[in-house]
Amino acid sequence: VNTTSLERTAPARPAASPPEAGTLERVTNFVDELLVALVNAGIFWADHPRVRSSVDRLLQLLPGLTSQGPLQLASVEDCLLHEERPLLGASLSGSRLIKALRGRESGGLEFAATTTREDLRALIGLLGQRPDASESLASVNTRLQADGARWVRLLPPYRLAAGAGGTAAAGPAAPAPAVPRLRLHGRVYQEIVELLQGIAVKVCHGEAFGFDAAQTLLDRVLGLLERDPGALLQITRYERYDAFTFGHSIRVCVLAVNFARSLTTDPALLNRVGVSALLHDVGKARVPFQILHNTGRLSAEERLEMQKHPLFGAEILQDLRDSDPMAVAAAFGHHLTEDQAGYPRTFHEHRLSTVTRLCKVCDVYEALTAVRPYKRSMLPLEAYRVMLSMKDHFEPWLLRKFIQVNGIFPVGTVVELSDGRSARVRAQGAALDRPVVEVLAEGGGPLVDLGQPDAGGLSIARAAFGDPIPEGAWSAEAPPGAPA
Ligand SMILES: [Fe+2]
Ligand SMILES: [Fe+2]
Repeated sequence: VNTTSLERTAPARPAASPPEAGTLERVTNFVDELLVALVNAGIFWADHPRVRSSVDRLLQLLPGLTSQGPLQLASVEDCLLHEERPLLGASLSGSRLIKALRGRESGGLEFAATTTREDLRALIGLLGQRPDASESLASVNTRLQADGARWVRLLPPYRLAAGAGGTAAAGPAAPAPAVPRLRLHGRVYQEIVELLQGIAVKVCHGEAFGFDAAQTLLDRVLGLLERDPGALLQITRYERYDAFTFGHSIRVCVLAVNFARSLTTDPALLNRVGVSALLHDVGKARVPFQILHNTGRLSAEERLEMQKHPLFGAEILQDLRDSDPMAVAAAFGHHLTEDQAGYPRTFHEHRLSTVTRLCKVCDVYEALTAVRPYKRSMLPLEAYRVMLSMKDHFEPWLLRKFIQVNGIFPVGTVVELSDGRSARVRAQGAALDRPVVEVLAEGGGPLVDLGQPDAGGLSIARAAFGDPIPEGAWSAEAPPGAPA
């Protein structure tokens, strides 16, 4: 991504060498924590203990990020950047922050090394308020100061510098500057996170939420899967622990819809499956925060508390005016097993619906293959082995079909071919270990179906699972109206 033509109007920035990958990771953690604080301030209030614990964490992270000067986060288009590098994970889950800045005509945030608890408290309070379009950025910053902030401020908008050609008046027109933007599937992902954040806030306030927003988004997910199944599956492989487990819900949703496409072509049914999968863990919004985010071993009592989430979920969904029984059943039954075990305990015999079974397969697969701070992720093959050994948890035909649809090398996986070339899996093929791959080459390489005789015996030597940044999540586009 070419972001070198971006320049901040103020303050003047010294030419810095590009940040190391570790720095970007730490900045992403910082933004993640800021988002947790913003969502929790929306659920509770700016001085709630949960927000305070986020503020403490932010203050712990800051010294490592301000040794060279103030920490600056930029917001341009639908992306967050640090030192002109796009922050993918932060941008995907950060539309709440991006919109809060855009609504105030601001292009970013600045945190001095001397930032205090009071600064962060005032900033979180301000960003949580609805922006007033008539208020200038200067007066927003003045108000921030009046609220007690001295070492943080909102930055002015990014100004696009003349392109690589510089500002010379004579000579050929400079090329249009490039702006990093999320591609369509990234923007849809961003909107789903925002929807789930909004639902969590409403559930915690005991308010109802409408199904329609989820249904509308699911139609877009289906459209994207139809057009380019790899793109969305690929972005959902972006493996980050996110504080509210929204990433898990989105991945389960995309896996479920993609799986369901192999079983039905009915768009209304696919939409219902997607909404059911997206909201299967909605009951977690009622589980105490410290239990939900406990990365260690849960005590027996905590486990019981955690195991209430399917019941909470079913209650939340059942109380909605436009609720769907399919989603209620999936929320209630996704931890029940075929042999009448699991939770919540029921006194009567239960029989799981096909959609609940489907969500359960995707839920367990996601949990096994995802990265969590306390465990390594399993390779798909390892996950299948575990799932096949979990007798009575899954309907056998459904599990077999799921394995067939996802293959040993799921769509989006980067692999090394037997001739040493790198390739990316684009679709499943006739055999589980012989997908259709696109050879990675400058300008796009050929598509090879490894199951066909004309593949010349080419096979997969090894896979690079856990590829952290999916290729193609970003695009560098000229801004609308920029000279071509
Ligand atoms: Fe669950
Ligand atoms: Fe789940």
